[in-house]
Amino acid sequence: MYLSKKGIEIINPDYSVFSIGDFGVVELDIGCGKGNFSVGLAKRFPERLVVAFDIMPGRLGNLAKRAERENISNLRILRTDGMLMLGRILPDSSVDRIHLVCPDPWPKGKHRCHRLVSSEFCGMLLRVLKGGGIFHFASDDDAYCLSVKKIIGMNCDFRKISSDENEISEIKSDFEMVWLSQGRVVQHLFFEKQKKAN
Ligand SMILES: C[S@@+](CC[C@H](N)C(=O)[O-])C[C@H]1O[C@@H](n2cnc3c(N)ncnc32)[C@H](O)[C@@H]1O
Repeated sequence: MYLSKKGIEIINPDYSVFSIGDFGVVELDIGCGKGNFSVGLAKRFPERLVVAFDIMPGRLGNLAKRAERENISNLRILRTDGMLMLGRILPDSSVDRIHLVCPDPWPKGKHRCHRLVSSEFCGMLLRVLKGGGIFHFASDDDAYCLSVKKIIGMNCDFRKISSDENEISEIKSDFEMVWLSQGRVVQHLFFEKQKKAN
């Protein structure tokens, strides 16, 4: 059993928990919240495995019920810490696309250290993504987007691409729907891991 910094138990630190054997393509939704994005993704790509995780258990219970109700068989839902998954648990070069949609922006300077995207996080993405794999980041917070462009976009093992070849713009997360209803603009950034990078 693994314990994260926040004391969250990971019952099975074995990647086989995801049964990826039957799925050639794996996508992660980090901090999935209520999971509308994960559900949309799993429905859009039924042949892929979508792994949704969040540290808040309450939202995940409802997401699991929804997946059952809507008969979605290619979605796995885990209560776990994204940093632990990317940092330790997921094997090297195992994931095709990683989504971080509307993460908490931590706008105050003194709280910036709580943001998920950092140079350490960039290293974790590079470890876990397959060559040619994609990191997708979305936020309505311009400052956070700028910082992601700098941290990820300026890493020579990533290449910023204008959009992803697998069109997903119609799939909205719960937070994105709220921001759009309030007239806010949500930016979507895509970065491709260079095929040669390891
Ligand atoms: C602002 S919400 C966005 C939820 C969802 N992505 C959406 O767009 O509707 C951010 C989510 O990230 C989760 N979160 C924050 N830090 C996390 C971490 N280290 N690992 C996993 N989830 C995390 C929070 O619990 C919260 O549900």
